[in-house]
Amino acid sequence: MDRPRSGGTVVTVDGHGAADRGRTGSTDDQGHSSTGPPAGVAERVRAVVAAHRDQRGALLPILHAIQAEFGCVDQEVVPLLAAELNISRADVHGVVTFYTDFRAEPGGRTDVRLCRAEACQSVGAERLVAHAEQVLGIKLGQTTPDGSITLNQVFCLGNCALGPAAQVNGRLYGHLDPARLDTVLATETAAS
Ligand code: FES
Repeated sequence: MDRPRSGGTVVTVDGHGAADRGRTGSTDDQGHSSTGPPAGVAERVRAVVAAHRDQRGALLPILHAIQAEFGCVDQEVVPLLAAELNISRADVHGVVTFYTDFRAEPGGRTDVRLCRAEACQSVGAERLVAHAEQVLGIKLGQTTPDGSITLNQVFCLGNCALGPAAQVNGRLYGHLDPARLDTVLATETAAS
């Protein structure tokens, strides 16, 4: 499910900025980088585009495929995608930052999304968030230093009657409390 968010940024595919590779580049008046990805990355991106370009609304499946390939959607690929699809960089950037499913940097091996929408809040979502932040030692939107878990929030997983709800590695869990969340995290991290 693609979920909109209020804002976001897109960074490099491999988690290192362009400056790390000694590159120079320019930025347009909307803040979009004009640097392109390294040749090897560009080749893989073009292959992803070629595999999906005939699909209706190809940009979304292409972005999902790029995230699956690289672990995130790199700002460096935005100009290349725009050129390949003959759309503006602003259009690509807008989609990347609109949907919460697209990460700005590679996530942890276990992806945890706690629902903070109204129905889940009414049955203890905030307590669950506070517990998760405390036991993991990170805040929402962060990844544990060992790269094992990324903790995020979502706003409704369609599991409202079974709140508090969470999605962990794509699996839906309901009726969570701190103890049950600990069990879920232990099980999911052991498997990932
Ligand atoms: S409000 Fe949490 S699943 Fe709908």
